[in-house]
Amino acid sequence: MLTPPEGASRWRRGHTGHMYGNDFAEPDDPGAGPLNAADGGAVEAAAAHVDTKSQQGLETFDAIIAADQRIEPRDAMPEEYRQTLIRQIAQHAHSEIIGMQPEGNWITRAPSLRRKAILIAKVQDEAGHGLYLYSAAETLGIDREELLDRLHTGKQKYSSIFNYPTLTWADCGAIGWLVDGAAIMNQVPLCRCSYGPYARAMIRTCKEESFHQRQGFELLWELMRGTPEQQAMAQDATNRWWWPALAMFGPRDTGEHAVTGGHTEQSMAWGIKRFSNDDLRQKFVDMTVPQAQRLGVTLPDPDLKWNAERGHYDFGEIDWDEFWRVIKGDGACNAARIERRVTSHQQGAWVREAAAAYAAKQRQRASAGAAGEGSAA
Ligand code: 3HC
Repeated sequence: MLTPPEGASRWRRGHTGHMYGNDFAEPDDPGAGPLNAADGGAVEAAAAHVDTKSQQGLETFDAIIAADQRIEPRDAMPEEYRQTLIRQIAQHAHSEIIGMQPEGNWITRAPSLRRKAILIAKVQDEAGHGLYLYSAAETLGIDREELLDRLHTGKQKYSSIFNYPTLTWADCGAIGWLVDGAAIMNQVPLCRCSYGPYARAMIRTCKEESFHQRQGFELLWELMRGTPEQQAMAQDATNRWWWPALAMFGPRDTGEHAVTGGHTEQSMAWGIKRFSNDDLRQKFVDMTVPQAQRLGVTLPDPDLKWNAERGHYDFGEIDWDEFWRVIKGDGACNAARIERRVTSHQQGAWVREAAAAYAAKQRQRASAGAAGEGSAA
């Protein structure tokens, strides 16, 4: 039995009934006790909590998952669950920061000040998403430096989509509309992921992705209402990004890869993934076809047609050989993306050193100040 922190009007043992999860009281609950854990004896309570958990083994984990609630960093969890999350969250974080490159390439060439400002804000958002995600991964007990090292040495993947080149300005529109559109379709269900820090990181990310998707649509909308050359540019970008966007959802739910290397079944059982890759892909197609009709672009798939019986659009087969080739490193931009990433990391070393030196100085001053106060008393 856990002891309530002193001052708390109530205490929920194993409480997981809220979005903020079982380690947090609701922020607007006045009876929830002191916010600072050290003020309320919560540190001791947390230590006791960990002891209880280790005695209880993983029963609590199973119960939390069965109740469709959130696992928090201090909860006991199976090692495979932890590793699966590290793999997925890291791949996601890497995708966000590598994803800055294809559009970052167009910041200096954006056709107006308004477009430049929008693009800078969007690329900066992607950096922010990477930071939320690396922080979420760190709560699983892995160091950010280690994760970046795994990206730089090719031990961890990032999304296949970012190995395609941005050849024209319209590609920025197609990325916003299709790539961010696919990302939202995949990430909104992750707001209900069973791991609390990942789920919470997804909430703001999805709001920002939603803005990204709309700005991409609006960019293409303008082009489609422009000159014949601009319309052709928008259509060409749509042609090149449609299939890679569909492939972003990952391999099919059935077939060789699902059996030998697929994670979906286990991840769904753990409440990490809420929908399978094929289900999300279908939702994306169903959502995007009417948008393409409004824009006036043609989606490059002769097999795309409404199936009244299924209540969904049928669509053609993705080139899975190309998908696996790109993931294994043979896409148009794999080498350039990693080289740029590693160079930026090296060039940023002085910033990290300066930040660490500043933090150390602040700590030193704070402890010298505290010692001074102590001796004065
Ligand atoms: N690119 C690269 N690798 C991919 C991939 C893709 N599009 N889709 C699947 N894979 C890899 C998986 O990582 C796994 O490889 P591994 O065992 O070596 O890790 C293998 O293919 C089998 O795929 P599974 O479907 O079984 O793997 P998952 O269960 O992890 O599902 C996923 C794949 C749906 C991408 C899932 O990891 C996920 O939902 N991730 C979170 C979202 C994410 O990472 N999105 C990336 C894009 S972010 C983005 O677009 C940013 C935006 O700002 C534009």
